[in-house]
Amino acid sequence: MATKCREGENGFKLPEIKFTKLFINGEFVDSVSGKTFETRDPRTGEVIARIAEGDKEDVDLAVKAARHAFDHGPWPRLAGCERGKIMMKFADLIDQHIEELATLDSLDAGKLFKMGMEMDIPGAANTLRYYAGAADKIHGETLKMSRALQGYTLREPIGVVGHIIPWNFPSTMFAIKVGPALAAGCTMVIKPAEQTPLSALYYAHLAKLAGIPDGVLNVVTGFGPTAGAAVSSHMDIDKISFTGSTEVGRLVMQAAATSNLKAVSLELGGKSPLIIFNDADVDMAVELARFAILYNKGEICVAGSRVFVQEGIYDEFVKKSAEKAKSWVVGDPFDPNVHQGPQVDKVQFEKVLKYIEHGKREGATLLTGGKACGEKGYYIEPTIFTDVKDDMLIAKDEIFGPVMSLMKFKTVEEAIERANKTRYGLAAGVVTKDLNIANRVSRSIRAGSIWVNCYFAFDHDCPFGGYKMSGFGKDMGLHSLDKYLQTKSVVTPLYDSPWL
Ligand code: NAI
Ligand code: MG
Repeated sequence: MATKCREGENGFKLPEIKFTKLFINGEFVDSVSGKTFETRDPRTGEVIARIAEGDKEDVDLAVKAARHAFDHGPWPRLAGCERGKIMMKFADLIDQHIEELATLDSLDAGKLFKMGMEMDIPGAANTLRYYAGAADKIHGETLKMSRALQGYTLREPIGVVGHIIPWNFPSTMFAIKVGPALAAGCTMVIKPAEQTPLSALYYAHLAKLAGIPDGVLNVVTGFGPTAGAAVSSHMDIDKISFTGSTEVGRLVMQAAATSNLKAVSLELGGKSPLIIFNDADVDMAVELARFAILYNKGEICVAGSRVFVQEGIYDEFVKKSAEKAKSWVVGDPFDPNVHQGPQVDKVQFEKVLKYIEHGKREGATLLTGGKACGEKGYYIEPTIFTDVKDDMLIAKDEIFGPVMSLMKFKTVEEAIERANKTRYGLAAGVVTKDLNIANRVSRSIRAGSIWVNCYFAFDHDCPFGGYKMSGFGKDMGLHSLDKYLQTKSVVTPLYDSPWL
């Protein structure tokens, strides 16, 4: 394996960590218990900072602030264009602090700094702008009533929202959840992942600078079973928007069901197929497949982790994939020549290595990688298994790491059937020049996003979310505003006639 393992060799110095406390009602405060937890640098496993550990009492305070801001504060009552103006300012402030924010996400999550600078952080700012532009275009309908009645609908903010966010895209997730909720006029409590609390606290600071009123946007850092569970079971939260594992998604839904029946949307795991047909340009397909599994070290819910290659080009594809793997550089995410940083933490690192061992034991053939790399930190070699069978664990479970399962198929029908043989349905990729095949596969795969001759083709305007056990409720696109709104029907008699 020619993967170069380089870490920390560019002498990067830790920046000052400015925000480590909970953000409640416009102030940074200690947790009620006074407890803190460590957030660690996955390049070394060392502690970056100690962060206030929020729990139920802190969530109660944050919800109280958000409820007050919703029931009595200006935010839901502002003209949409005024909310939009403040959100635009928030986006501008993000742009002005790109470097600091990208640094925080790289430190906390092991994400490529270059990617943060070019994609995640500017993308977060643009997502806020997209929803800022929508804030004054939220309106109901005039109804065609069958009797002498006048009816119309109002689209009202749903109330206090709880956002539970994962660690793999701390900035992107923050923006795609907070953006539409702010535009709708909601107030909110955000629970970032315990692995990556730093940027969310920084965003809270910028939100205040932008003029978002106190109590509208609160951030409670802490663990899932404590702070997270307090959010999902809270009696005064009206809506929960969750992204994370399918297992926890189930718990969130249960908590909503046994508390106040709050509305729930879930964006969960995936085991997305990438299907490559005989007529594909093999070099392009190899590159796309590599990108689809290794982007963000495989820590992405839509990772193309099951790659199906048609038999006519299979051998060439395998040979070229092995060759290409040699040029892939694993190492310090601050180094611009590096392609892949460390996994987010020790838990995920060990989980991925365990799956690799499973793959070997189950009889799949290891084509590249298969080991941890480097002396310290949570680095894993890009790993490709061939001869993978559909019922092997590595072909069924979401691994959430740089591990590709490569499989051969003969016919279009077979590809569709096997691609759909999963409990997940988040995304799929198709590589072919044949429009008929592309159309047929696109309509036959039960997944929320289909990328033809591309992958990870996200856009603010493009709804994103799962089918099947990958969840429900769309993030991004104008549809996602619906999650943060509710519809009220208002009816009056049309003429001055007695109603009763
Ligand atoms: P997780 O689902 O435990 O964490 C996601 C968020 O949920 C975090 O903010 C966490 O604190 C919170 N949470 C955890 N338990 C909770 C509870 N009982 N009630 C309310 N909130 C709770 O994911 P984890 O453990 O970090 O990763 C495990 C696996 O989940 C990954 O290996 C991956 O397969 C999948 N995952 C999927 C993501 C996606 O983008 N769909 C993102 C992160 C993880
Ligand atoms: Mg967890």
